[in-house]
Amino acid sequence: MVKPERKVVDPVLGDGFGEALRECWTAGGKAGRSYATIERDDGFLFITDVAEYFDDFDKLERHEQWAVKRARGRVLDIGCGAGRHAIALADLGADVVGIDPSPGAVDVSRERGVHALMGTVKEQGSDLGKFDCMLLLGYNLGLLESRQESVEILSSLARKAEVGTRLFGNSMDPALNTYPDHVRYREENHRQGRMPGAYHLRIRHKNLTTDWFDYLYLSAKELAELVVDTGWEITEIETEGQSYAVELTLTRAGAVRAG
Ligand SMILES: C[S@@+](CC[C@H](N)C(=O)[O-])C[C@H]1O[C@@H](n2cnc3c(N)ncnc32)[C@H](O)[C@@H]1O
Repeated sequence: MVKPERKVVDPVLGDGFGEALRECWTAGGKAGRSYATIERDDGFLFITDVAEYFDDFDKLERHEQWAVKRARGRVLDIGCGAGRHAIALADLGADVVGIDPSPGAVDVSRERGVHALMGTVKEQGSDLGKFDCMLLLGYNLGLLESRQESVEILSSLARKAEVGTRLFGNSMDPALNTYPDHVRYREENHRQGRMPGAYHLRIRHKNLTTDWFDYLYLSAKELAELVVDTGWEITEIETEGQSYAVELTLTRAGAVRAG
């Protein structure tokens, strides 16, 4: 008997991360209810329980708590996800606007009481006004993408800010991770002329996947080199193991590249 041919179906392009957040939120935001798979372009997979994106202030990593406690006033939370930092900051009296390109993330944030809008780190939306602080937390310094893009993005954020505006972000020093698959990946990046922590990823949930995107892990030293000529300066650093948070302050609006 001829066996019927089995058809392998590729994942469908869509809001993989947002749908995982939506599923978790619908199930009460608790652990063990919804997972996202982060797929790297070398085939390496990370599986994450998205309940962590619903953590309250007390459960945030210590260096993120440090950043939340330092932010004040009108705050733009870039890539707000399900709004955990926005909610923590609002509880401390800040006036927060969250932006995110994921419809699922924006819906969930709104349902949780966050003033959330569609937007990206490159296209924040024109009518948002001025902010005292900006956030790239939840490892969202990764949204700086690459050496070249990070300079463009930081310069563009500087043009929307005023001298004294602060930007809080966090990342992980990729060189401190000695897991062999990550070491190999960094070495290949080096061979290709990329920064060591320049990852190419997509996020999957069930049969959905986001498009592939660039994501940057970088040390505080690498960040300090990238911010030269963008108008931002690292004014504080808080380290926690392989992770760290920074406070960047816009010190030289006049020096910002035109773009
Ligand atoms: C790792 S999650 C962090 C979410 C949130 N900051 C937190 O820590 O809970 C990254 C978030 O960035 C959003 N994102 C992806 N690309 C983006 C971009 N280009 N600009 C802004 N946000 C982006 C994703 O939709 C996702 O919600």
